[in-house]
Amino acid sequence: MDAGGLLFKAATIVPDQAPQEQAAAAGIVEAYNLMRYDAVGITAQELAAGLPFLRGLAKHAAFPWLNADLVSRDTGRPLFAPSIARKAGGVTVGIFALAGPGAAANLRPEDQATILPWQEAVPRVLGQLKKSAGLIILLSGLPAAENEALAQRYPELHLIVQAGDDSATNQPPRQVNNTLILRTEKQGKSLGVLDIAWTASRKWGEDRAGQLVSKKNELDRVAWFVRSHQRKGDPQVLYRNDPGKLKIYQELLAQERRLAGEIKRLEKEVAKGTGQSDALADNRFLALTTELPDQPAVLAIVEKTTKSVNRLGQELARVQLERSKREAVEQRPHVGWQRCAECHRTEADFWRQGRHARAYETLRAKNQHFNQACLPCHVTGPASTTLPESLQAVGCESCHGPGRDHSANPTQSMIKQPPAQTCLGCHTPEHDDNFDYSRDLTRLNCPHVKP
Ligand code: HEC
Ligand code: HEC
Ligand code: HEC
Ligand code: HEC
Repeated sequence: MDAGGLLFKAATIVPDQAPQEQAAAAGIVEAYNLMRYDAVGITAQELAAGLPFLRGLAKHAAFPWLNADLVSRDTGRPLFAPSIARKAGGVTVGIFALAGPGAAANLRPEDQATILPWQEAVPRVLGQLKKSAGLIILLSGLPAAENEALAQRYPELHLIVQAGDDSATNQPPRQVNNTLILRTEKQGKSLGVLDIAWTASRKWGEDRAGQLVSKKNELDRVAWFVRSHQRKGDPQVLYRNDPGKLKIYQELLAQERRLAGEIKRLEKEVAKGTGQSDALADNRFLALTTELPDQPAVLAIVEKTTKSVNRLGQELARVQLERSKREAVEQRPHVGWQRCAECHRTEADFWRQGRHARAYETLRAKNQHFNQACLPCHVTGPASTTLPESLQAVGCESCHGPGRDHSANPTQSMIKQPPAQTCLGCHTPEHDDNFDYSRDLTRLNCPHVKP
């Protein structure tokens, strides 16, 4: 079982990263199919990419997604299976799951769905489960305090497996009322194993034999410290002038006495067999460290998923580059010839027939369009390899100056007739040994038309 929080790292996703995170989520479901999960709970994290995404993904899951508090706003009916029953060791185990109020933030109005408060959702599902199940488990996306409140209110709830957030650590079972609450650490780093000896009493008993063992271990440890203090003589005499050390020693003695007393009591109870008829649980966490061999089929899924996540990452990098270009354009004083053409049609038509309009194409044809040494004279405005298309030419603004202000408000004046100086910035002797301003001006044919 997994109480949830498996699909996404957090309850929200950065929109740009959604395609990558969704590909990873699909890989997780594929791997869970292979691992043959019995049940998986839905929490706010499962809904991070939206309800439609989860529903689509659920179609590919070989395990049931459980949830009892996410319901249709119209009918009040749960959108996923609220619970399942499984036979284990002759006991029918009922399992249900809650997402918790935090999940509501991931629902959109068009989802037509809502999260019920547990006070409403739990009685419904428990009433159903109690009829058939002898042991009832909740996979919970609720916060710890709410889980405790649930345990106080429903003694028929025997086990709460708390979903992990990103700070989750392994938490061994803690008994509240007649419920054990536990949690396994984040990111599948551990597998939680709980062996249950269930009895007809349907009550958790105190594991006195187990407590006895651990108290005896503790006593051994304390006794070792006491002996090490006594090695050089009587510490009460030795530490006469060292009140700090004396205090530590005296505390150890007191601890030793206390433990010995508790052990005596437990030994008596174990001998009498008190609490024998109650259920016992033994928990351990198996660390899934990297030394463990990989399961080849799961590894194949991981590798396939990593590949597609990488590919999506490259696509994202491209989109982000385009966006940064566009944003950079919005801040440039140069707006590009298309903007000028909106009002100066005739000039634009003439310009497009000339070579200035194709100056960047000339570089591209020679595969020199990434060469910083060439760009300054073959583009509009300051040279860069990330210019938007509208500036990839010797455009209007190369001669008439930057036109952002003028385009927004044409009464802002532009350079009417660019002087020879402007042309000579590019028509240098190295690049044009035959430049003649007044002759070449006539070749330009930038016509004088009132817009
Ligand atoms: C929204 C329409 C509009 C846009 C966009 C526009 N212009 Fe103009 N432009 C005008 C108008 C109207 C005039 C005439 C202004 C006047 O006569 O006072 C003008 C005049 C000019 C002149 C003559 C000089 C002057 O100051 O009167 C030049 C040169 C010019 N524009 C170049 C450009 C360039 C280059 C661009 C693009 C960067 C551009 N314009 C964008 C409307 C526009
Ligand atoms: C290579 C330099 C160059 C480029 C590129 C260029 N022009 Fe010109 N433009 C000139 C020159 C020079 C004149 C003046 C010509 C004249 O007066 O005979 C002029 C004149 C104009 C005028 C008339 C100005 C006036 O006196 O009112 C407008 C408007 C104009 N250009 C708009 C544009 C637009 C729009 C573009 C881009 C589509 C453009 N120009 C591209 C050099 C250029
Ligand atoms: C930002 C640099 C730059 C500026 C400013 C510039 N030019 Fe050019 N010009 C070029 C380049 C580059 C070419 C060659 C484009 C190609 O063939 O790829 C060119 C080509 C020309 C041509 C060949 C024209 C054609 O269309 O057949 C003429 C004429 C010319 N420029 C005149 C001028 C004049 C006049 C000015 C000033 C009013 C001027 N240029 C300003 C870069 C510039
Ligand atoms: C200082 C400005 C400047 C620089 C830098 C520059 N060019 Fe040019 N380029 C021009 C001008 C101006 C022309 C137009 C010359 C003419 O029409 O006679 C031109 C024309 C060209 C042509 C067309 C030549 C033809 O005769 O058809 C090519 C190709 C070209 N440049 C490539 C390059 C490459 C490649 C670089 C970088 C290694 C480069 N340019 C760097 C200004 C420049």
